[in-house]
Amino acid sequence: MDMVKLIAGNWKMHGTSADLGEVRAIATRAGELAGRVEVALCVPATLIHRAAEAVPGFAIGAQDIHHKDKGAHTGDVCAAMLHDAGATVVIVGHSERRDAHREADADVRAKAEAGLGAGLSVILCIGESLDEREAGRAVATVSAQVDASLPQGEIDLSQLALAYEPIWAIGTGRVAGVGDIEEMHAAIRQRLVAAYGQAGSAVRILYGGSVKPDNAAEIFAVPEVGGALVGGASLKAADFLPIVEAGA
Ligand code: G3H
Repeated sequence: MDMVKLIAGNWKMHGTSADLGEVRAIATRAGELAGRVEVALCVPATLIHRAAEAVPGFAIGAQDIHHKDKGAHTGDVCAAMLHDAGATVVIVGHSERRDAHREADADVRAKAEAGLGAGLSVILCIGESLDEREAGRAVATVSAQVDASLPQGEIDLSQLALAYEPIWAIGTGRVAGVGDIEEMHAAIRQRLVAAYGQAGSAVRILYGGSVKPDNAAEIFAVPEVGGALVGGASLKAADFLPIVEAGA
């Protein structure tokens, strides 16, 4: 598929202002590659404002959003606040949040709708556990997650990306085989087209799970892989930029 790849870094709970040099280095190279690859960095909420100020025009993102626009929700952050801080992207439904914060598909859908409705780009994560894969239920599990998590209503699909992240491949150094990635991305594409019609064929589907400089090119060559959501290897420009370049 001939679409510009999106390479997004997810810093998870890593990063303070001492790491802004990495953000600057990544943004500078991303600027040089503009038009060939899209790059975003989803940093901790505490770093969004400083990062966005440090690299104007580069996509700084958040890792979660509350689905409501205000209210008594201690510790949560809404779309307008993310905008105000300078974020243009938000990750929703990461498996670490689905697990630790008991986020269900309906919550993920509401978060995606809130983000898109506020003009943010949304990266919506889905993925199966090792038990589900070993039981032969990977496709069924992920297809059901997609069906139940996809945002509905008046949305700009060009601002939506999905990230297929098999839970057993996250932070483990274990990468899904290219055949498995191809099968899963094809299944996700089918669900996108079922939900959105032909417009669903243009939604990028990222792969996530132990993407590194030495496996990125092979993963990016898999049909229907529209980029990557990168955790550990996005923290340092020296690791992340070879992945970005592989996607350019
Ligand atoms: O959001 C990113 C994924 O959880 C992948 O993390 O690259 O450290 O395996 P990882």
